[in-house]
Amino acid sequence: MNETTARLQRPYPRTFRLDENTEVSFRLMTPADTHRLVTFARALPEDDLLYLRMDITKLNVVMQWGQNIKEGRTVTVLAEVDNEIAGYVSLHHNEVTWQRHLGEVRLQVAPRYRARGLGRALAGEIFAIARSLGLSKLVAHMTPDQQGAIATVERLGFRREALLQNFVIDRSGQTRDLLVMSYDMPGRIAC
Ligand SMILES: CC(C)(COP(=O)(O)OP(=O)(O)OC[C@H]1O[C@@H](n2cnc3c(N)ncnc32)[C@H](O)[C@@H]1OP(=O)(O)O)[C@@H](O)C(=O)NCCC(=O)NCCS
Repeated sequence: MNETTARLQRPYPRTFRLDENTEVSFRLMTPADTHRLVTFARALPEDDLLYLRMDITKLNVVMQWGQNIKEGRTVTVLAEVDNEIAGYVSLHHNEVTWQRHLGEVRLQVAPRYRARGLGRALAGEIFAIARSLGLSKLVAHMTPDQQGAIATVERLGFRREALLQNFVIDRSGQTRDLLVMSYDMPGRIAC
Protein backbone atom coordinates (compact mmCIF):
# COMPACT_ATOMS: atom_id res chain seq x y z
CA MET A 1 0.00 0.00 0.00
CA ASN A 2 1.38 3.46 -0.91
CA GLU A 3 0.42 6.89 0.48
CA THR A 4 -2.28 7.37 -2.13
CA THR A 5 -4.05 4.06 -1.58
CA ALA A 6 -3.81 4.59 2.19
CA ARG A 7 -5.93 7.74 1.75
CA LEU A 8 -8.76 5.96 -0.13
CA GLN A 9 -11.73 5.73 2.15
CA ARG A 10 -13.07 2.86 0.13
CA PRO A 11 -12.68 -0.85 0.81
CA TYR A 12 -11.67 -3.22 -1.98
CA PRO A 13 -12.55 -5.70 -3.35
CA ARG A 14 -16.20 -4.75 -3.82
CA THR A 15 -18.82 -6.33 -6.02
CA PHE A 16 -21.30 -4.96 -8.51
CA ARG A 17 -24.11 -6.87 -10.19
CA LEU A 18 -24.20 -6.15 -13.94
CA ASP A 19 -27.27 -8.27 -14.48
CA GLU A 20 -28.77 -11.31 -12.82
CA ASN A 21 -26.13 -13.63 -14.28
CA THR A 22 -23.06 -11.43 -14.06
CA GLU A 23 -21.29 -10.31 -10.93
CA VAL A 24 -18.36 -7.96 -11.35
CA SER A 25 -15.60 -7.63 -8.81
CA PHE A 26 -13.78 -4.31 -8.43
CA ARG A 27 -10.30 -4.23 -6.98
CA LEU A 28 -7.24 -2.01 -7.14
CA MET A 29 -4.69 -2.88 -9.81
CA THR A 30 -1.13 -3.66 -8.70
CA PRO A 31 2.07 -4.06 -10.74
CA ALA A 32 1.46 -7.83 -10.54
CA ASP A 33 -1.47 -7.35 -12.97
CA THR A 34 0.80 -6.10 -15.76
CA HIS A 35 0.63 -9.20 -17.98
CA ARG A 36 -3.13 -9.59 -17.54
CA LEU A 37 -3.59 -5.96 -18.57
CA VAL A 38 -1.49 -6.46 -21.71
CA THR A 39 -3.64 -9.51 -22.59
CA PHE A 40 -6.80 -7.41 -22.06
CA ALA A 41 -5.42 -4.58 -24.25
CA ARG A 42 -4.34 -6.91 -27.05
CA ALA A 43 -7.88 -8.29 -27.29
CA LEU A 44 -9.42 -4.80 -27.79
CA PRO A 45 -10.74 -3.91 -31.25
CA GLU A 46 -8.39 -1.95 -33.54
CA ASP A 47 -10.74 1.05 -33.36
CA ASP A 48 -10.25 1.34 -29.60
CA LEU A 49 -6.49 0.89 -29.85
CA LEU A 50 -6.27 3.69 -32.39
CA TYR A 51 -7.29 6.22 -29.75
CA LEU A 52 -5.43 4.97 -26.70
CA ARG A 53 -3.37 7.70 -25.09
CA MET A 54 -0.58 5.19 -24.53
CA ASP A 55 -0.08 1.93 -26.39
CA ILE A 56 -1.01 -0.46 -23.60
CA THR A 57 -0.58 -3.47 -25.87
CA LYS A 58 3.15 -3.00 -25.16
CA LEU A 59 4.58 -4.66 -22.07
CA ASN A 60 7.03 -1.84 -21.25
CA VAL A 61 4.20 0.74 -21.34
CA VAL A 62 2.07 -1.28 -18.90
CA MET A 63 5.13 -1.85 -16.71
CA GLN A 64 5.48 1.95 -16.48
CA TRP A 65 1.78 2.12 -15.57
CA GLY A 66 2.46 -0.39 -12.77
CA GLN A 67 5.35 1.78 -11.58
CA ASN A 68 3.04 4.84 -11.49
CA ILE A 69 0.62 2.80 -9.37
CA LYS A 70 3.41 1.78 -7.03
CA GLU A 71 4.49 5.41 -6.65
CA GLY A 72 0.94 6.65 -6.06
CA ARG A 73 0.57 8.76 -9.23
CA THR A 74 -2.08 6.46 -10.67
CA VAL A 75 -4.98 4.63 -9.07
CA THR A 76 -6.60 1.97 -11.25
CA VAL A 77 -9.72 -0.01 -10.46
CA LEU A 78 -10.00 -3.28 -12.37
CA ALA A 79 -13.39 -4.81 -13.09
CA GLU A 80 -13.23 -8.60 -13.24
CA VAL A 81 -15.79 -11.18 -14.22
CA ASP A 82 -14.86 -14.79 -13.45
CA ASN A 83 -11.27 -13.69 -12.90
CA GLU A 84 -11.05 -12.07 -16.34
CA ILE A 85 -10.56 -8.31 -16.81
CA ALA A 86 -13.78 -6.77 -18.15
CA GLY A 87 -12.67 -3.16 -17.91
CA TYR A 88 -10.79 -0.61 -15.88
CA VAL A 89 -10.83 2.99 -14.82
CA SER A 90 -7.71 4.96 -13.97
CA LEU A 91 -7.16 8.21 -12.18
CA HIS A 92 -3.87 9.95 -12.87
CA HIS A 93 -2.72 12.84 -10.74
CA ASN A 94 0.47 14.55 -9.72
CA GLU A 95 0.75 16.14 -6.32
CA VAL A 96 3.80 18.24 -7.05
CA THR A 97 2.59 20.27 -10.03
CA TRP A 98 0.24 23.25 -10.30
CA GLN A 99 -2.38 20.80 -11.56
CA ARG A 100 -2.40 18.90 -8.25
CA HIS A 101 -6.13 19.58 -7.88
CA LEU A 102 -6.84 17.68 -11.14
CA GLY A 103 -7.33 14.02 -11.84
CA GLU A 104 -7.29 12.61 -15.34
CA VAL A 105 -9.73 9.79 -15.91
CA ARG A 106 -9.21 6.95 -18.38
CA LEU A 107 -11.99 4.44 -18.82
CA GLN A 108 -12.09 1.27 -20.87
CA VAL A 109 -14.66 -1.52 -21.03
CA ALA A 110 -14.28 -4.72 -23.09
CA PRO A 111 -16.74 -4.76 -26.01
CA ARG A 112 -18.80 -7.70 -24.68
CA TYR A 113 -19.54 -5.83 -21.44
CA ARG A 114 -20.45 -2.46 -23.00
CA ALA A 115 -23.84 -0.75 -22.78
CA ARG A 116 -24.66 -2.69 -19.60
CA GLY A 117 -23.77 -0.05 -17.03
CA LEU A 118 -20.19 -1.13 -16.30
CA GLY A 119 -18.66 2.15 -17.55
CA ARG A 120 -20.99 4.12 -15.27
CA ALA A 121 -20.18 1.88 -12.29
CA LEU A 122 -16.43 2.23 -12.88
CA ALA A 123 -16.84 5.99 -13.17
CA GLY A 124 -18.64 5.90 -9.80
CA GLU A 125 -15.54 4.26 -8.29
CA ILE A 126 -13.29 6.98 -9.62
CA PHE A 127 -15.57 9.78 -8.41
CA ALA A 128 -15.40 8.28 -4.91
CA ILE A 129 -11.61 7.91 -5.12
CA ALA A 130 -11.21 11.50 -6.37
CA ARG A 131 -13.27 12.69 -3.38
CA SER A 132 -11.06 10.71 -0.98
CA LEU A 133 -7.97 12.30 -2.52
CA GLY A 134 -9.48 15.79 -2.26
CA LEU A 135 -9.34 16.47 -6.00
CA SER A 136 -11.53 19.31 -7.24
CA LYS A 137 -11.68 18.68 -10.97
CA LEU A 138 -11.65 15.62 -13.22
CA VAL A 139 -10.62 15.72 -16.85
CA ALA A 140 -11.00 13.23 -19.68
CA HIS A 141 -9.17 13.42 -22.99
CA MET A 142 -10.54 12.15 -26.27
CA THR A 143 -10.75 13.02 -29.94
CA PRO A 144 -13.91 14.69 -31.31
CA ASP A 145 -14.77 11.61 -33.40
CA GLN A 146 -15.03 9.33 -30.33
CA GLN A 147 -18.76 9.87 -30.19
CA GLY A 148 -19.51 6.97 -27.83
CA ALA A 149 -16.90 8.12 -25.32
CA ILE A 150 -18.09 11.73 -25.49
CA ALA A 151 -21.72 10.67 -24.99
CA THR A 152 -20.70 8.46 -22.05
CA VAL A 153 -18.76 11.12 -20.16
CA GLU A 154 -21.43 13.75 -20.91
CA ARG A 155 -23.99 11.40 -19.32
CA LEU A 156 -21.70 11.28 -16.28
CA GLY A 157 -21.78 15.09 -16.02
CA PHE A 158 -18.58 16.07 -17.86
CA ARG A 159 -18.70 19.13 -20.13
CA ARG A 160 -16.58 20.20 -23.09
CA GLU A 161 -13.70 22.35 -21.86
CA ALA A 162 -11.38 22.84 -24.84
CA LEU A 163 -10.63 21.66 -28.35
CA LEU A 164 -6.93 21.66 -29.19
CA GLN A 165 -5.97 21.43 -32.86
CA ASN A 166 -3.74 18.54 -34.03
CA PHE A 167 -2.67 17.92 -30.46
CA VAL A 168 -2.32 14.13 -30.56
CA ILE A 169 -1.08 11.45 -32.94
CA ASP A 170 -2.98 8.17 -33.16
CA ARG A 171 -1.44 4.73 -33.57
CA SER A 172 -1.61 5.03 -37.36
CA GLY A 173 0.52 8.20 -37.23
CA GLN A 174 -2.33 10.60 -38.08
CA THR A 175 -2.64 13.81 -36.05
CA ARG A 176 -6.02 14.50 -34.47
CA ASP A 177 -7.67 17.25 -32.47
CA LEU A 178 -7.86 16.71 -28.72
CA LEU A 179 -11.11 17.31 -26.87
CA VAL A 180 -10.70 18.05 -23.16
CA MET A 181 -13.81 17.26 -21.12
CA SER A 182 -14.06 18.22 -17.47
CA TYR A 183 -16.13 17.65 -14.36
CA ASP A 184 -16.04 19.93 -11.29
CA MET A 185 -16.30 17.89 -8.10
CA PRO A 186 -19.31 19.18 -6.12
CA GLY A 187 -18.37 21.37 -3.17
CA ARG A 188 -14.75 21.77 -4.22
CA ILE A 189 -13.77 25.06 -5.80
CA ALA A 190 -10.44 25.16 -7.57
CA CYS A 191 -8.61 28.43 -6.98
C1 LIG B 1 -16.88 4.61 -23.27
C2 LIG B 1 -17.06 3.27 -22.54
C3 LIG B 1 -16.08 3.19 -21.39
C4 LIG B 1 -18.51 3.18 -21.99
O1 LIG B 1 -18.63 1.98 -21.21
P1 LIG B 1 -20.05 1.24 -21.06
O2 LIG B 1 -19.90 0.17 -20.06
O3 LIG B 1 -20.52 0.85 -22.40
O4 LIG B 1 -20.94 2.44 -20.49
P2 LIG B 1 -22.36 2.32 -19.76
O5 LIG B 1 -23.13 1.15 -20.27
O6 LIG B 1 -22.14 2.36 -18.29
O7 LIG B 1 -23.00 3.68 -20.21
C5 LIG B 1 -22.72 4.91 -19.53
C6 LIG B 1 -23.65 6.00 -20.05
O8 LIG B 1 -23.20 6.44 -21.34
C7 LIG B 1 -24.19 6.17 -22.34
N1 LIG B 1 -23.50 5.61 -23.49
C8 LIG B 1 -22.60 4.60 -23.47
N2 LIG B 1 -22.14 4.37 -24.72
C9 LIG B 1 -22.79 5.25 -25.52
C10 LIG B 1 -22.79 5.51 -26.92
N3 LIG B 1 -22.00 4.84 -27.78
N4 LIG B 1 -23.58 6.50 -27.40
C11 LIG B 1 -24.39 7.20 -26.57
N5 LIG B 1 -24.46 7.01 -25.23
C12 LIG B 1 -23.67 6.05 -24.73
C13 LIG B 1 -25.13 5.16 -21.72
O9 LIG B 1 -26.44 5.30 -22.24
C14 LIG B 1 -25.06 5.48 -20.24
O10 LIG B 1 -25.92 6.54 -19.87
P3 LIG B 1 -27.14 6.26 -18.84
O11 LIG B 1 -26.55 5.47 -17.69
O12 LIG B 1 -27.58 7.63 -18.45
O13 LIG B 1 -28.11 5.48 -19.63
C15 LIG B 1 -16.83 2.07 -23.50
O14 LIG B 1 -17.69 2.22 -24.59
C16 LIG B 1 -15.41 1.98 -24.01
O15 LIG B 1 -14.58 1.34 -23.36
N6 LIG B 1 -15.12 2.60 -25.17
C17 LIG B 1 -13.80 2.59 -25.73
C18 LIG B 1 -12.80 3.40 -24.92
C19 LIG B 1 -13.20 4.82 -24.67
O16 LIG B 1 -13.70 5.52 -25.57
N7 LIG B 1 -12.95 5.29 -23.43
C20 LIG B 1 -13.29 6.64 -22.97
C21 LIG B 1 -12.08 7.49 -22.84
S1 LIG B 1 -12.11 8.36 -21.28
